[in-house]
Amino acid sequence: MGREYERILKCLECVRARTDFHPKAALILGSGLGDYGESIQLECTLDYSEIEGFPVSTVPGHKGRFLFGYVAGVPIVAMQGRVHYYEGYPMADVVLPIRLMKLMGAEILFLTNAAGGVNEAFAPGDLMLIRDQISDFVPSPLIGENIEEFGPRFPDMSHIYDENLQEILRSGAAELGIPLREGIYLQFTGPNYESPAEIRMSRILGADAVGMSTACEAVAANHMGMKICGISCISNMAAGISQKPLNHTEVQEAADRAAPLFKKLVTESIRRMGAL
Ligand code: HPA
Repeated sequence: MGREYERILKCLECVRARTDFHPKAALILGSGLGDYGESIQLECTLDYSEIEGFPVSTVPGHKGRFLFGYVAGVPIVAMQGRVHYYEGYPMADVVLPIRLMKLMGAEILFLTNAAGGVNEAFAPGDLMLIRDQISDFVPSPLIGENIEEFGPRFPDMSHIYDENLQEILRSGAAELGIPLREGIYLQFTGPNYESPAEIRMSRILGADAVGMSTACEAVAANHMGMKICGISCISNMAAGISQKPLNHTEVQEAADRAAPLFKKLVTESIRRMGAL
């Protein structure tokens, strides 16, 4: 057994000392969904700081804890606060929570984030179903000794985002009357926002939205064979599209404004996942 796998098993032991909750789905709460905990019938919470060897986030506004409970009767674990690569953690730390949630029992990973709109047909407040991604601007979380217990050395990435889950998100949005955009998510390292030239490059590469999380998490989850889906909340148009400089507070506020619809969509989607 490799050292990294051993470390994750230790984390699992800490979790199991507190709860034997077995989630069906793991939900990552991005900006705007910070208070989604109110929509969960909570069984228990666990601060990241209580888990030995677990990386703890430093971003203001990101609480660091796992929420265990039920959404529409479906057992889930939600991450309130994630760890970002730009905080200085190695990629192994950034994806450790994803791997841990898989070991808790989660077969589905539901990713959410706030992102900058690159597609000029988008507008702030739009929700975008992630169809595929570009992760090449950050190191792969799979670099280094392969964790055989999780998956193969050279995993296929042809279908990172599960087709059935995409359909669930689409039909959930349609039933709720929530317009749902679709597109490609591109991850940059951050923490700086992009330059207008970088956004033009992203568009040429086929991106519809850019952000500082998510793609590396999806790579690690796909390696382990999890079924993945994701939604980006377009909190702002990316650099150079509008002439306004970007700032974190305004991005956060825009994500908060979109939150009510975002939460409804997440709940309805999880309800539908219960039937899988
Ligand atoms: N760029 C990168 N990440 C982001 C943005 C952006 O414009 N908005 C929210 N997260």
